[in-house]
Amino acid sequence: MTSTALLSARGLSRGYADAAGGHAVLRGLDLELAAGEIVAVIGRSGSGKTTLLNLVGAMDRPDGGRLEFRGEDMGAWDDAARTAFRRRALGFVFQAFNLLPTLTVAENVGLALELNGLPLAPRVAELLAALGIGHLAERFPDQISGGEQQRTAIARALAHRPPLIIADEPTGNLDRDTGREVITQFESAVRAAGATLLMATHSEEMLGHCDRVLALRDGALVRLA
Ligand SMILES: Nc1ncnc2c1ncn2[C@@H]1O[C@H](COP(=O)(O)OP(=O)(O)OP(=O)(O)O)[C@@H](O)[C@H]1O
Ligand SMILES: [Mg+2]
Repeated sequence: MTSTALLSARGLSRGYADAAGGHAVLRGLDLELAAGEIVAVIGRSGSGKTTLLNLVGAMDRPDGGRLEFRGEDMGAWDDAARTAFRRRALGFVFQAFNLLPTLTVAENVGLALELNGLPLAPRVAELLAALGIGHLAERFPDQISGGEQQRTAIARALAHRPPLIIADEPTGNLDRDTGREVITQFESAVRAAGATLLMATHSEEMLGHCDRVLALRDGALVRLA
């Protein structure tokens, strides 16, 4: 591992029990993410992309191998440390947006700031403006379009300035043109924040916005570009 790695995975394995006794999804996977990098993971449905993101995001634990965040062994963290990592160091963007329906756009974006005891102003307004949704601040999620919901989710993921963002098919529920606009704004916002982005995607449109493209095949990553 180099001293600049934000995250490093070595020999990661994860499988699931099934009727046949179980099958391995990740089989000795290695990954290193440098600070400020945007990296795409592609691979057929069921290849293990979400499984990998869940491990990197400390939402799941590997069966074997080692994960390090800034040189710290994530496997040694207790539940409190894992929760603190998810709250402070991570931002998530999901295919299904996952906004809280009873909160406005501005309140959704302010959530991670509140959880971290950080002031909402001027960060929320700044992010809404950067993503072109300032005029929607007081609307509720069911009063805005899918693309606008995903911009809100992106603003929320970035609000507390996490060093690492994880995105699982962030444009999967958007039409092609909207997806293209959203990924362009997502990339600029991530670069402006200097954050690292690890993103699972099926969309070729996304790949031009990434510094590296990795394919998940037979449980391991292969560099494509
Ligand atoms: N909780 C679980 N229990 C059992 N099997 C699971 C579980 N989660 C995932 N799997 C299996 O692990 C494999 C990898 O799933 P995963 O969701 O990581 O794939 P993916 O690459 O994200 O697919 P997609 O592109 O469809 O989102 C699949 O065969 C899936 O059925
Ligand atoms: Mg998936």
